[in-house]
Amino acid sequence: MALQLILSLLLLPVVSCSAPTKYLIGAGIYDITGPAAEVNMMGYAMLEQLTNGIHFRLFSRAFVVADAENKTRFVFVSIDACMGSQSIKLEVLKKLKDIYGSVYTAENVVISGIHTHSGPGGYLQYLLFDITSLGFVKESLDVIVDGIIESIKMAHDRLQPGYIFFGNGTLLEANINRSPSAYEFNPDKSHYEHNVDKQFVLLKMVNEKGKGIGMINWFAVHCTSMNNTNGLISGDNKGYASFLMEQHMNGLGTIPGQGQFIAAFAQSNLGDVSPNTRGAFCADTGLPCDYNHSTCHGKNELCRGIGPGKDMFDSTKIIGQKQFAKALELYNSANIPLVGPVDFRQAYVDMTNFSLEVDGQTVHTCPPAMGYSFAAGTTDGPGAFDFIQNDKKDNPFWDAVRDLLKTPSAEQVKCQHPKPILLDTGEIHEPYDWQAPIVDTQLLRIGQFVIAPVPGEFTTMSGRRLRHAINETLKLAGFPKNTQVVIAGLSNTYADYIATFEEYSVQRYEAASTIYGPHTLNAYIQHYKTMARDLATGNPTSQGTAPKNLVDDQIPFLRPVLFDCHPLGKHFGDIHEDVNKTYKINETVTVQFWSGNPRNNLMTNATFLTVMQQQSDKEWRVYRTDAFWDTKFHWAHTSFLGCKSLATITWDLGSDVSTGNYRIHHHGYYKPLLESPEPFEGTSSVFSVTS
Ligand SMILES: *[C@@H]1O[C@H](CO)[C@@H](O)[C@H](O)[C@H]1NC(C)=O
Ligand SMILES: *[C@@H]1O[C@H](CO)[C@@H](O)[C@H](O)[C@H]1NC(C)=O
Ligand SMILES: *[C@@H]1O[C@H](CO)[C@@H](O)[C@H](O)[C@H]1NC(C)=O
Ligand SMILES: *[C@@H]1O[C@H](CO)[C@@H](O)[C@H](O)[C@H]1NC(C)=O
Ligand SMILES: *[C@@H]1O[C@H](CO)[C@@H](O)[C@H](O)[C@H]1NC(C)=O
Ligand SMILES: *[C@@H]1O[C@H](CO)[C@@H](O)[C@H](O)[C@H]1NC(C)=O
Ligand SMILES: *[C@@H]1O[C@H](CO)[C@@H](O)[C@H](O)[C@H]1NC(C)=O
Ligand SMILES: *[C@@H]1O[C@H](CO)[C@@H](O)[C@H](O)[C@H]1NC(C)=O
Ligand SMILES: *[C@@H]1O[C@H](CO)[C@@H](O)[C@H](O)[C@H]1NC(C)=O
Repeated sequence: MALQLILSLLLLPVVSCSAPTKYLIGAGIYDITGPAAEVNMMGYAMLEQLTNGIHFRLFSRAFVVADAENKTRFVFVSIDACMGSQSIKLEVLKKLKDIYGSVYTAENVVISGIHTHSGPGGYLQYLLFDITSLGFVKESLDVIVDGIIESIKMAHDRLQPGYIFFGNGTLLEANINRSPSAYEFNPDKSHYEHNVDKQFVLLKMVNEKGKGIGMINWFAVHCTSMNNTNGLISGDNKGYASFLMEQHMNGLGTIPGQGQFIAAFAQSNLGDVSPNTRGAFCADTGLPCDYNHSTCHGKNELCRGIGPGKDMFDSTKIIGQKQFAKALELYNSANIPLVGPVDFRQAYVDMTNFSLEVDGQTVHTCPPAMGYSFAAGTTDGPGAFDFIQNDKKDNPFWDAVRDLLKTPSAEQVKCQHPKPILLDTGEIHEPYDWQAPIVDTQLLRIGQFVIAPVPGEFTTMSGRRLRHAINETLKLAGFPKNTQVVIAGLSNTYADYIATFEEYSVQRYEAASTIYGPHTLNAYIQHYKTMARDLATGNPTSQGTAPKNLVDDQIPFLRPVLFDCHPLGKHFGDIHEDVNKTYKINETVTVQFWSGNPRNNLMTNATFLTVMQQQSDKEWRVYRTDAFWDTKFHWAHTSFLGCKSLATITWDLGSDVSTGNYRIHHHGYYKPLLESPEPFEGTSSVFSVTS
């Protein structure tokens, strides 16, 4: 037995009277990097934010947990994508059924997004979310679904007996509230020290010998360290934290996605939580923005959240490093074993008219609608036109624009009050639904630890109230006193934001994006309490009706790649600008190749670039791929509407790079007219790195 496990076991009596329960645990990882060119990024809803290369690759990380008798299991999947989506879950379930029969179902599969705003979009099935990506992008959906399947297969195949330990700590200076003026309206704010959650909750998974299998942690912070001008695919701060943890555990230089130890930095109640810790300032004057409206001179565009770094890459690095450092600390110290059964509950809930009691009165939720302040965006990514946050008044011009699509019914206006409706998405069903009428809700249990996957972005206080309600319900119904509940955000269905009733009355961005009206949060709380009671008493939960799979109804507009070309006398993969002969640490190596459109082949589980290092026996070995932090693959056409394109590969030489000889390869596919894409490769000259 490893020393660490012995120590953990010795510490048991202090914190628990029961022996740790043995579980079956398996972890898996696979590449889900989507089209690295010309596809709109999901998150900021900026038409002009298109992918143009890769900073580092995106992965799906799957964790199967079963009881020791192998009777009950679930799989928790964290994806480096903006969110889980209904189309992803339904497509994944179809494939899992073909492979495993009834082992994995809607009930025991969770797909939770880390919320990076730097991944290709177009994979959501409800129309609103695919407007800025100019329709559905099948390539985006397919690579995510296939990658999730590969990661689950790997986790399934690697199942082995082991133990799980819980760690809980506090991480300061890595997140702030971006809508404090709304948060302040919560009467229960005095129960908490901070206006965002600082808690960092972690599960450590080890095998019987004490060897690490993997780790999942939950910390609430938007993955918006990279801003809306970025075109390089990136896992943002959480993707980078995973990279760092896996490098640390698997050995520095391990090709990402190929190590045994798997580390998920999963998302939680991040609704109003920004990583831009210096706060929001006016880009022109440098002064703080208007507090209530997040405007500069009355407009939203110039008000931007910044920091903590000198640019967006540096900020991503800092917020990622902080999460990595806390995770490592908690991983090394986690000593509360999970004790008890594996279980789960799941239900589809129609949120368009959910009845509930509030203060003795029957109220109900409404069909989806987006408020005016939704269009103002946030300080992490401002919106457009004259929209501002905290707006509770209609404007005749925008109402007229709205009415071209749909005039909201009188009932809807009343139901959504005080939200002025900008988009009456819930009352438009052509060509198919614009936002989710039905959401997928779940609870997972491992002993005294309960994961609550939620279909959207709960604000800080919404998350606290939901956690508390689940916690109390479980304990009342017989769960152990030390029960721990964590929220897994952006899981399964994407149903936008969930603000509290009080925040809703303020109508900042998060409230304007709380789509089912003022009682949205209370409806969720009531429903999760029902599931918690069922989980605690062993009763089944009525599953409800699954939403339609709309994948076959989708309309793509993205133009296929017609053909690629290169200048006369050159070939695909030829050098345009070569490397220098020598470089020093802290310099950046740059090389440019004539290239083909990266959409011709996503290079899944492969790479568009390799840095090769010469060994003492003169052989060349892979040293870096496009999945590393210090390399960047940048792709662009040489002219608008042209067919020629250049790939620019850069490599930042950090202090961890060894001196010696290197060369850089570019791999890709080019598209001949009317034929299938063909592979090509290019190689730079050899260069040396000196100290
Ligand atoms: C555990 O159960 C699953 C699903 O029924 C099955 O595929 C797998 O082979 C079993 N594993 C072991 C170790 O028995
Ligand atoms: C923000 O709005 C509140 C009313 O909701 C008001 O009392 C307060 O003075 C405003 N603060 C600022 C800085 O404008
Ligand atoms: C995005 O970050 C870069 C620095 O990396 C900065 O120059 C730019 O102004 C930022 N843009 C926005 C819209 O925040
Ligand atoms: C919502 O449900 C209630 C009953 O719970 C019903 O009276 C009401 O008409 C429904 N509203 C709509 C818009 O369907
Ligand atoms: C749930 O209750 C337990 C015991 O009172 C407590 O330790 C824990 O922090 C509570 N909260 C959550 C979110 O689990
Ligand atoms: C973690 O600890 C904090 C206090 O430091 C507590 O408020 C919170 O409920 C704990 N989280 C869980 C999931 O137990
Ligand atoms: C490289 O830069 C880092 C950080 O700026 C610095 O600490 C280090 O000394 C530099 N190394 C060399 C070899 O210049
Ligand atoms: C070559 O070195 C010069 C001077 O250090 C630098 O400005 C340039 O960017 C380097 N070129 C490449 C291709 O790395
Ligand atoms: C992914 O790549 C690794 C390393 O090259 C290889 O071992 C593995 O089989 C590949 N996986 C799939 C599903 O192709």
